[in-house]
Amino acid sequence: MMLHIPEVLTPEELAHCRSVLEKADWQDGKATAGQQSAKAKYNLQLPLNHPQHRELAELILRALGRNRIFNSAVVPFRVVPPLFNRYDPGMGFGAHVDNAVRPIPDSGGMRVRTDVSATLFLSHPEEYDGGELCIYDEAGMQEIKLPAGDMIVYDTTVLHSVAPVTRGSRWASFFWTQSMVRDESRRRVLYDLDRAIMDLRTRLSDHDPAVLQLVNCYHNLMRQWCDL
Ligand code: NI
Repeated sequence: MMLHIPEVLTPEELAHCRSVLEKADWQDGKATAGQQSAKAKYNLQLPLNHPQHRELAELILRALGRNRIFNSAVVPFRVVPPLFNRYDPGMGFGAHVDNAVRPIPDSGGMRVRTDVSATLFLSHPEEYDGGELCIYDEAGMQEIKLPAGDMIVYDTTVLHSVAPVTRGSRWASFFWTQSMVRDESRRRVLYDLDRAIMDLRTRLSDHDPAVLQLVNCYHNLMRQWCDL
């Protein structure tokens, strides 16, 4: 499932992230790439030991925590602390796959199975040309460029690339999530059911017997399908 989640950050949070990143010392993105993907990767990243990396990562994790669509569609178990990247003119990232398992830094060896990838756009689309996130799925290639503060989530199982930037600078945050529901088709069923329940709750009431029955079905499916 590929999903556009609008306005993940408030305008104030977005402005804060951008002002910190404006002053940051960026490093070569190859430092965090795997052996094979390093050959395709030309970008800059905020170093993990940058003094404000943790603060920005926590700001984004808080924004995810309150985002109903993210929680409903992804059913997060663990999120790798968000990273930040930047593509200036001539930079891009050829088609590649992301590692299936990622360590969580400074966690005493905790690891995450990468079920869902997310890119949170921090630059306005008119600030740069090129830089589309290209996702290759059964329907062909989808080119994604979203308003600053919006996020795309997609299954980490697919090939993807970032088209070369030809003007301006493209900044984004990106991260991976291990879902409590490993199977993407099951996540889709839960998301569809949750949305239908939300819609019915506004049209009927929380205590309507049909609503209660559906909420019960939702939790019973979750009980069968989630791993913790
Ligand atoms: Ni990638």
